[in-house]
Amino acid sequence: MEKLVIHGGPPLCGTLPVSASKNAALPLMAAAILPHGVTHLDHIPHLRDITTFSHVLRITGASVERKGRGLQIDASRIGFPEAPYELVKKMRASFYMLGALLGRCGQARVSLPGGCAWGPRPVNLHLEGLKALGAAIDLDEGYVVARLPHGGLPGGSYRFDPSSVGATVNLLLAASVGSGGSRIENAAIEPDVIVFCEMLQAMGAKLSGIGTRTIEVEGIRELQAVDYSNCPDRIELGTFMIAAAIAGTPGEPVHLTHTRPDHLGDDFLDAFQKTGAEYVVENGSVIVTPPEAVNPVSITTAIYPGFPTDLQAQWTVLLACAHGKATVTDQVYGDRFNHIPELARMGLQASVNGNQVTVSGGARLTGARVMSTDLRASVSLVLAGLVASGTTHVGRIYHLDRGYEKLESKLSQCGIDIRREQYDEFSAPNQG
Ligand code: UD1
Repeated sequence: MEKLVIHGGPPLCGTLPVSASKNAALPLMAAAILPHGVTHLDHIPHLRDITTFSHVLRITGASVERKGRGLQIDASRIGFPEAPYELVKKMRASFYMLGALLGRCGQARVSLPGGCAWGPRPVNLHLEGLKALGAAIDLDEGYVVARLPHGGLPGGSYRFDPSSVGATVNLLLAASVGSGGSRIENAAIEPDVIVFCEMLQAMGAKLSGIGTRTIEVEGIRELQAVDYSNCPDRIELGTFMIAAAIAGTPGEPVHLTHTRPDHLGDDFLDAFQKTGAEYVVENGSVIVTPPEAVNPVSITTAIYPGFPTDLQAQWTVLLACAHGKATVTDQVYGDRFNHIPELARMGLQASVNGNQVTVSGGARLTGARVMSTDLRASVSLVLAGLVASGTTHVGRIYHLDRGYEKLESKLSQCGIDIRREQYDEFSAPNQG
């Protein structure tokens, strides 16, 4: 297995480039199997989730090839409308194959994703929504088996409660190619969904209301393959803004390049400024000036444009560096706190009560052997390692590799003492 070893102390300085968005790339890849042709997607990050989803697409008969910083997806022949358990359990977004295969083949057999590291993550809205638009849905030995009537998806109307990124994507994939009109209410308005809708539109899909809570779709018989460019990753940008604020030298700007700060939503940007950190946006870069002292700022996650749940673990580390008490409340996922016991091993003073963590900041964290439990938890441990005294070993970084491209090389180019090492999880500490 691999781990990251971080010697805390050296400040973060210089320039950190932000990679392309993982959560936008996945629906773009799913959309690429709708037309009978070759799609070129530019700016697709080198990540484990992208590799997993490439396998998922290949199983159906698509060819997926890496071409420099992008992907070429040839969906001329799609002959096997199935997404197997072995891959869906690795990455929940494989469930996008339900809508994509329905749109392309009129039928799909897709494994139910099952549990998740931070508690239940239901797919009821995906299934109810597709049914409301006219798909027949059955469950068979852990798989969703979906079929469309002859002639394609008849269409219909469905209101999400709550608004869901994944379910909005699934319904749009199925509804774009069909025989009728569909109306999706309380649709997700995350930037990742907007970028995906714009690609569908470029492919010829008849969508209106993109970026609003009500999207209308007029199904058409066939979409065209296109060349399309992905956007920067907003969660990586937020993670790097937090890294700069806590591990940079006060008063010395850190440059984050290739960014779309408008994709972060106002709640994050407002909370960030209240910490005392300053940022300016210049020619696609965000320049962060770390504060002399970090103010404790409580946050509550919410569906976009609220504070992203994907940034709450990192915010907890920021609060550990602040002087005073503050809370992190997660309204999107009530049980997403696996990082807290690991951070406590580094000296974090925090208590969890329901969906809220209270952090008493101010005491310096100390290096320890800690273990990643999921993607965002693992990056919070890396952030903690940057500011801790001594050496931090972050184990099981296959979680981190799902969503952060070349993190250690980016950080070491900014002065951080960090390296990747092989280790044996079951060996004694002095051997591993
Ligand atoms: C996406 C992101 C994930 C992020 C999450 C919330 C991707 C690949 N993943 O996940 O990183 O943490 O948005 O911003 O883009 N819900 C239901 N029933 C459903 C579906 C969702 O009740 O059928 C609830 C969820 O429990 C959650 C809320 O809806 O409380 C939003 O979840 P959703 O937007 O669906 O998240 P994902 O698309 O899975």
